Amino acid sequence: MTGEINGLASFAAGTLPDLVTAATVLLLTVVMLALYSWPLTVLLLLAFLPPALLTVRAFHHRAGPVYAEVAAAEAAVAAGFAESLPAQEQLRTSGSVPRWLERFARANERLLEAQSVEVRTELRLNRLALIQAGCVAGLLVLSAVLVGRGALSVGAAVVFVLATRDVFHRFEDLAGAIGDAREAQVRLARLLDLVRATGQHGSTGSVRTADALPARGELRLRGVGFGHRHDKRVIDELTLTVPPGERLVVAGGTGSGKSTLGKLLAGLYVPDAGSVRFAGHDIALVDPALLRSRIVLVPQEVHLVDGTLAENLAMSASRPGRAAVERTVELLGLTEWVGTLPYGLDTEVGTRTLSAGERQLVAVARAALTDPAVLILDEATAGVDRMTAARIEEALAALAADRTLIVIAHRADTIARGRRLLTMPDGRLTDIAGETAVRP
Ligand SMILES: Nc1ncnc2c1ncn2[C@@H]1O[C@H](COP(=O)(O)OP(=O)(O)O)[C@@H](O)[C@H]1O
Ligand SMILES: [Mg+2]
Repeated sequence: MTGEINGLASFAAGTLPDLVTAATVLLLTVVMLALYSWPLTVLLLLAFLPPALLTVRAFHHRAGPVYAEVAAAEAAVAAGFAESLPAQEQLRTSGSVPRWLERFARANERLLEAQSVEVRTELRLNRLALIQAGCVAGLLVLSAVLVGRGALSVGAAVVFVLATRDVFHRFEDLAGAIGDAREAQVRLARLLDLVRATGQHGSTGSVRTADALPARGELRLRGVGFGHRHDKRVIDELTLTVPPGERLVVAGGTGSGKSTLGKLLAGLYVPDAGSVRFAGHDIALVDPALLRSRIVLVPQEVHLVDGTLAENLAMSASRPGRAAVERTVELLGLTEWVGTLPYGLDTEVGTRTLSAGERQLVAVARAALTDPAVLILDEATAGVDRMTAARIEEALAALAADRTLIVIAHRADTIARGRRLLTMPDGRLTDIAGETAVRP
């Protein structure tokens, strides 16, 4: 994100004024040339402009995707670097530093490749130099002929040739600035994508009151398409109906779009095509606060706030009191687990006290307090110890039966009691009802 903003800022500060200056000087010089000899000026423009414009246009066409790839690769490297800081401890303890480094190296290689394509594309602009040389040669020959016939003075011919060189320089500046403008345009598009992806679309919500949105309802996806980049869809033409109370398992390899689907279902992303409806309402039009009380997504990585366990559990849209918190802990079968903490519900749980799996447990309990119609879990039991995973499953099993549960799992067999299986990225649905539950 900062990469995009820096890129835009330097464009506004440096390139934009250059663009205006180059265009103005270019225009004035052409006017001056025409005053010296308008037939020569017209000939010059006819000879120079078509091939030069074609070259710039071809560059313009290729530059969009090239700059998009560079920006995406830069973002990947920056993200890799940023994630390495908080995840350091985990990377080290799990012995995955070499694997992580490999991945980071791949991100860097991608950036290098993207940048070399960028340089090669920019070099295509060098054809302009050839076109210019041709024009100057032609101009010299023509001037010699005209001077010989007495149609042009020697002084005027010299001034003309010199001024022409200035026109070429300005044109080059202009072409360069157009390249920068293209780059800025790509960065702006990415920035808008990021803003859109963070779900700042609530102000347009036309469904605002709790009465307008039933407490339980069907989730319906119709022709949903979504891509993080314009040229590549992660999810394409996905149509799916999830009736209330359904237990749907979403499986697929890493990068197959499971988390993206989870965010689309939770209304964190707005589809590029098609719609996601809850109880008949397009969720893009539902007030975000209201939507969060109906559809809750427990992300892969749960962060807790500084404070006690009870305070963290109470961080839910329904603002539950102590009694409600205690009741839910009991209901979800978490009393024993809470008993293992030094001060029970009053244990301070900073960022480090609880394991990732235990933080998932907290998030599931918090979701239960919100009482959403749809609960989406993104790889809740991936990398969680057996005991905690069993606790998570027990808590899930204790949730109200009319609640829709969408369980995203890296491996299909990690979560028990699914009724249907959705396989990503192709969106294939399989009935798995009646099969024996498999515990992780
Ligand atoms: N914020 C993002 N910006 C750009 N690309 C992304 C972003 N999030 C995910 N992707 C890409 O979208 C694809 C699907 O990612 P994701 O939904 O996280 O898959 P999964 O959860 O199945 O591993 C991957 O190719 C991933 O690189
Ligand atoms: Mg994921």
